[in-house]
Amino acid sequence: MAFPSSFIEELIERNDITDVVSSYVSLSRKGGNLFGLCPFHSEKTPSFSVSPEKQIYHCFGCGVGGGVINFIMSIENLSYPDAVHFLANRAGMTVPDDRADDELPRLRRRMLELNKEAARWFYANLSGDKGAKAVRYLEKRKILPKTAKNFGLGAAPGEWDALINAMREKGFERDELVRAGLAVQGKGGRIYDKFRDRLMFPVIDVRGEVLGFSGRTLEDDAEPKYLNSPETLVFSKRRTLYGINLAKNTKRDHFILVEGNVDVVSLHQAGVDSAVASMGTALTTEQTRLISRYVKKIVLCYDNDAAGIKATDRALDILRNSEFSVKVLRLPNGIVDGKPVKQDADDFIKKYGGEEFDKLISGSGGSTEYRLTSLQAEYDLTKDEQRVAFLKKAGQLLAALSSPVEREIYAAKAAEAAGISAEAMEREVERAVKNRRRNEKKEYEKQSGQPSKLLQPRDKALRYKDVRSALAEEGVIRQIMLDPSTAAFCDLEESDFSSPVLWRIYSELIRRCENKQSLSPGAVSSSLEGQDAEVLASLAEKPETAGGRQAVEQYINVIKTQRLLESTDLAEISKKMREIKSNGG
Ligand code: UTP
Ligand code: MN
Repeated sequence: MAFPSSFIEELIERNDITDVVSSYVSLSRKGGNLFGLCPFHSEKTPSFSVSPEKQIYHCFGCGVGGGVINFIMSIENLSYPDAVHFLANRAGMTVPDDRADDELPRLRRRMLELNKEAARWFYANLSGDKGAKAVRYLEKRKILPKTAKNFGLGAAPGEWDALINAMREKGFERDELVRAGLAVQGKGGRIYDKFRDRLMFPVIDVRGEVLGFSGRTLEDDAEPKYLNSPETLVFSKRRTLYGINLAKNTKRDHFILVEGNVDVVSLHQAGVDSAVASMGTALTTEQTRLISRYVKKIVLCYDNDAAGIKATDRALDILRNSEFSVKVLRLPNGIVDGKPVKQDADDFIKKYGGEEFDKLISGSGGSTEYRLTSLQAEYDLTKDEQRVAFLKKAGQLLAALSSPVEREIYAAKAAEAAGISAEAMEREVERAVKNRRRNEKKEYEKQSGQPSKLLQPRDKALRYKDVRSALAEEGVIRQIMLDPSTAAFCDLEESDFSSPVLWRIYSELIRRCENKQSLSPGAVSSSLEGQDAEVLASLAEKPETAGGRQAVEQYINVIKTQRLLESTDLAEISKKMREIKSNGG
């Protein structure tokens, strides 16, 4: 980041996390830590902890965590530099000159320049021979030239090195193209264009930077249908929303979440200008934070097929207890040859237009209504035992609502659907509420006794693919934090890590060791982004005693062995195993 590290360290020192958090949350001491009700999710028993010693916070309930800067970013909804200014102000410090120019390290800036040039080139192709096929495809999808221009759509021709050559002429290197995910290195070391014969959708952020690309095939049977940029220094799918660059300017009070890029484009073209899409992944908390800078209402409009229903459920889980008010738009099926067929937002818009779509939004219910209706559809309410089962489930569903008024309203609806009295249903809900409280209390007691149980991050995208290795990776990280001199014995590379988040934390620690910067959890958190800071905070909560060089080497042994087991060549494995044993053991 642009701020000198000595400044950030002083900033953290002068903004004690306990003081800062206390002005938002009332805390009481329990052991070495302070506890309070989490300001980031709604709860009745405190699971939000602050460690004055480590200068971090961590919520055992929802998993958020980090240092004082992360806390201010989340609670005040500020960007990193803004949070730094906020805290500097609070502590009466002057922020050293941080011209926007210096803000991005050189590599990121170069990559953004390259992406922008590439986007310009793809777009320019639409007016020449190289883009003729893509232009025909746009016509077929009824995307107007004006819309294509608005979104910066473009054409990747069906050639192996057209983009590479164009960008090399502009002074970009082979390595830069590969690192940006625009070119791929083949077996013989030659590189070729990653995107070929595709309609290109640049993924643009709120500042107008091109972060990456999504390319749709122009041949209907080619696989994959959409090809996305890999994760790069500037592109992270979970932090991005396709269309946010335009949606952020909407006058509407809601964002509409759809599945596909074309859905976004079609909706905007029809005047529904607050549509965004999370490109082929489930909605993430980072994305909801991005949205919350602009609106507090979300309309979920996923496809009406099994995948869309699953995506809706997962999004509702993420949005439960959030500050958003949520509506779920159910797209009607289309009818072809007398049979119902799936329609996505794009299909609907092309058939009925934006005004009809807006009517669907007005007619959509909230998440409880959606869940209740979905639940109802699973049961045959003409049968007694199915009615009982439905009521039980409905009771549990409604017990999760925090407002008694809401509970009563929906209890009445459920009762009506199942043909029983409202009183009976309310009794069922009350029972479920009591049950729930009992369970919550038990769960809380269990958790506060064993925080390490919560280490596995809740977010699916972060689930470690190899837990044995991940535990060892975590071990290395904790050892370095306890005893920075052990960093000298660490020679891990990105490919050794089973989890990208642990690699990012590890490399940040190594970087700090090299620059002789502080390794305290609070300080390290300041140079990590959202989720990474959370993981670090939960790692720092886990007990570990310094084991020095020996402990680090044992962990590294485990990691290398696990990586080896992933490879399939058995002869290779046994040879390498002997090597590892003779080096480390
Ligand atoms: P869909 O397959 O529903 O695509 O994928 P769509 O938008 O309806 O496609 P069209 O209308 O045929 O062009 C929805 C989204 O999931 C991601 C893309 O972002 C796509 O827009 N996706 C899909 C991928 O990332 N890879 C794929 O192979 C397919
Ligand atoms: Mn579609």
